[in-house]
Amino acid sequence: MADSTFAFLVHPRAEIASDLARLWRPLGLAPEAALQWGLRHLPVPPQTLATVRRRDRPDGEIAGRVIVVPVGARQMLHEDRRWVRGRIEQAIDLAEQQGASVVGLGALTAPVTDGGRALRPRPGIALTTGNAFTAHLTVEGLQRLLPAAPGNHIAIVGATGSVGSCVVRLLADEPLGADLTLVARNPRRLEDLAEQVRATDGAVRTSTDLASVRDADLVVVLTSATDALIRSEHLKRGAVVLDDTQPRNTDPALAHERPDVLIIDGGVAAVPGIDLRGDIGLPRSRAYACLCETMLMAFDGQRGTATGPASTEHARAMRDAARRFGHLGFDLADPLSFGRPTAWPAAAELATKVGR
Ligand SMILES: NC(=O)c1ccc[n+]([C@@H]2O[C@H](COP(=O)([O-])OP(=O)(O)OC[C@H]3O[C@@H](n4cnc5c(N)ncnc54)[C@H](OP(=O)(O)O)[C@@H]3O)[C@@H](O)[C@H]2O)c1
Repeated sequence: MADSTFAFLVHPRAEIASDLARLWRPLGLAPEAALQWGLRHLPVPPQTLATVRRRDRPDGEIAGRVIVVPVGARQMLHEDRRWVRGRIEQAIDLAEQQGASVVGLGALTAPVTDGGRALRPRPGIALTTGNAFTAHLTVEGLQRLLPAAPGNHIAIVGATGSVGSCVVRLLADEPLGADLTLVARNPRRLEDLAEQVRATDGAVRTSTDLASVRDADLVVVLTSATDALIRSEHLKRGAVVLDDTQPRNTDPALAHERPDVLIIDGGVAAVPGIDLRGDIGLPRSRAYACLCETMLMAFDGQRGTATGPASTEHARAMRDAARRFGHLGFDLADPLSFGRPTAWPAAAELATKVGR
């Protein structure tokens, strides 16, 4: 099947100025409120932020593009949904004009469009949330980090979401021998999910109270909240945290306040075979897992959509695609903590060597 190009949609995160400065540096100096107003009231078009090339292909060949939807993270969640979705549709229009046949819905563009299901279907364009490969990579991160945690109790914050529920189901299929606490705000959805996975080898509890996270040894953060939900009082001594969220839910103050706690930025893959020209806020040769899923679907010539909650079947299909394109990367990246390189804890290194 012929190769197809892809587009991956992103948007400015909680602080609009610093993210827009990646497009044009002077915007970094503009007051936040003025930028919010401008994005809401002026006809700001979507912009191409980065181009993506494969190192196993001729240099001039563009494999895909990263496109910025000009809507801030808080606006994504709190402005009129029809306006937000209109802006996302405009970005997909641009992707279509640029020849994309796979479009990935990055960061909050998936949650605000019901995982893409609220968007206009377009013949010739496969949509994906990128959440299935994110869930797969998250489980790989948990496998690696559990031996470094002080005990075997995992809290999954945002467990009922698209990524979260896929992580929970993947853990049910291939248990790590850990007790699970599933955390979110809606108790009925939590209980429904817990019922589906209770036959696993550890206890499965649910909680709508973030205070319950304090019992956990390993915490994975997967909510769609825009704020720093996880603060010092939520974490036990020596806890390990895997934070996949964009915008992130772990308070940057934790880096100073809690030297006993290890916080790893989750959902990031190593892609040494990918040449990404433009600043997506990650060090070189790394990409977010949802961007990786978009690439993999395009490289693999996949035409089916992956909208709505991520499925374990799609997560496994993406894991297999990642192996097929392993010469380009697509495995768990060396760890970052608040964007800075850090080391895997010794126990995590050991777990990898013995193939846990
Ligand atoms: N690194 C990557 O490559 C990557 C890829 C995909 C997604 N992500 C990130 O992963 C996160 C989740 O995405 P998603 O698509 O799975 O979102 P989603 O489907 O909207 O799920 C969000 C989950 O968070 C819970 N939640 C929301 N606000 C909460 C709060 N204040 N307190 C506790 N729970 C809360 C929701 O349940 P309730 O509403 O019941 O609380 C739900 O369980 C986002 O930050 C996204 O940007 C990262």
